[in-house]
Amino acid sequence: MRTSKGSLFLRLAMSTLWLYFLLCLVYGESVRILGFFSYPSVSHQSIFRALWRELSLRGHEVTVITPNPWNDPSLINLTEIDVGFTFDIVAEKNFAGNMGKGKSALSRVIYVHDIAMELTEAEILHENVLKLLTYDEYHFDVILVQSLHPLMYFFGVKFRAPVVGVSSFDIFLEFHDAVGNPTHPIISPEIVYNGFDKELSFVERVKSVLFHIWYRAIYYWHILPEADKVTRKYLGEDVPYLGDVIKNTSMFLVNVNCILHKVRANVPNVIPMSQMHIRKKKPLPKDLQDYLDSSSQGVVYFSLGSNVKSANLSIHLREVIINAFEEIPYNVLWKWESDYLPDCPENVMTRKWLPQQDLLGHPNIKVFITQGGVQSLEEAIANEVPVIGLPFISDQSANVKRMMDRGAGLGLDPNTLTKDDLRNAILEVATNSQYKKQIKKAKSILLDEPLVGVEKAVWWIEYVLRHKGAPHLRSEAADMTFFEYFMVDVLAFLSICVLLASFIFIYSMRVLVKLGLSISESPKQKSA
Ligand SMILES: *[C@@H]1O[C@H](CO)[C@@H](O)[C@H](O)[C@H]1NC(C)=O
Ligand SMILES: *[C@@H]1O[C@H](CO)[C@@H](O)[C@H](O)[C@H]1NC(C)=O
Repeated sequence: MRTSKGSLFLRLAMSTLWLYFLLCLVYGESVRILGFFSYPSVSHQSIFRALWRELSLRGHEVTVITPNPWNDPSLINLTEIDVGFTFDIVAEKNFAGNMGKGKSALSRVIYVHDIAMELTEAEILHENVLKLLTYDEYHFDVILVQSLHPLMYFFGVKFRAPVVGVSSFDIFLEFHDAVGNPTHPIISPEIVYNGFDKELSFVERVKSVLFHIWYRAIYYWHILPEADKVTRKYLGEDVPYLGDVIKNTSMFLVNVNCILHKVRANVPNVIPMSQMHIRKKKPLPKDLQDYLDSSSQGVVYFSLGSNVKSANLSIHLREVIINAFEEIPYNVLWKWESDYLPDCPENVMTRKWLPQQDLLGHPNIKVFITQGGVQSLEEAIANEVPVIGLPFISDQSANVKRMMDRGAGLGLDPNTLTKDDLRNAILEVATNSQYKKQIKKAKSILLDEPLVGVEKAVWWIEYVLRHKGAPHLRSEAADMTFFEYFMVDVLAFLSICVLLASFIFIYSMRVLVKLGLSISESPKQKSA
């Protein structure tokens, strides 16, 4: 009796152990993730940081190359290779100037290409990154890539694992092309390089179509081959063409949403995400908390984000802003990146850095004056703070325009800004409750999804892990030639058919008419 019970127990224990072993083989510790998030921009990295932190907390073994590491020793499953030196490379290149108004789309495209090539290659050459080249090609189970430039797919070429592209803003045309996502130049115009921010006029529609054509020529004949050369320089000639690896992308996670972006039809492996970097609030530092608590008349929060610094504003614009602040009945909290603000009014407090997410949640904040970057606007929405947009570069004016269309704020042009415009806009947004109401509505729409924020992105990455890629979600459009996709051959064939039919019809009519004439003429001859 005793022994049989004992052996039953033993057998149960053995089979449980066996099952556990099997599970470990399938899902276990072998889940290793590599992330390459190269572009040094605090706001863009904030999206990716949330993602790799959460993946590591779920027990995946995560290695990331980033200029913006957490450096948090409690994240024990996370290895961060710090390439923060690239912030200096970008700082030297005057990003705001080169992406700002007055630059042609062509010069912006070339500028982004040059800068991305330079900093990505510099990161590849970092001694701790070079160590990854000694790993065997099956070392990782999934590769996450910031999808901004083809060279960022370097480790997708090195390692044989499914690649997931992640982007903090809408992906460029080549990445839409890679998975066959529709890129209609009128319905979904490219905004980062063109700055289209409203319904397109006829001239803009022509421009957009031409952009879609020449951008691809430059990309496929110049940018992509140059990046491929660099991958071959370090990985040898015996690797697939970089363009083929990009075409093999399992999935794109793209930080776009229906509040800040035009909706578009996506193939099933392009997944929109939002609210990625929104996290639980942390308590404010004591001085800030006291300042906000005691400003019962209200506070205007002013920050131009991490790419456009307000300390770099022109003297004229700075004075316009200061003069407007002097005339409002609120306190102002200004993210000002140097020690001293000339002519700082009494109601203005400056700080080089501010915990934006935490302070936007304070009930005394009335208005957020922002450059209109997606991350800042998402924080405004999450905290229900109406905005005034002062857009400077790339997609900012389009984002601000969409906030205005939603009734969740106002937009002003920093190039023509006057003191009165700014003061009136602040008073309007702070006192008219419609703006607050509309931004609340935007928030309720954004959060009304089965999975929100980083949860959604992690779910899709684990989906790719579970299925070892997602070829079943791949649209056939991705592998079609231009002629097939646009049905050029079919349309040409049908046109020829129509032409032939018309020709035959006309020809036979002529014959019939001639015949008819000769028939009608012959009795006449008879009767004559
Ligand atoms: C680390 O990973 C293990 C499983 O591999 C998991 O159980 C644990 O919770 C993770 N810990 C942290 C702090 O991420
Ligand atoms: C594309 O992905 C599949 C499946 O993950 C893989 O077998 C193939 O080698 C990849 N091809 C290229 C060029 O990366």
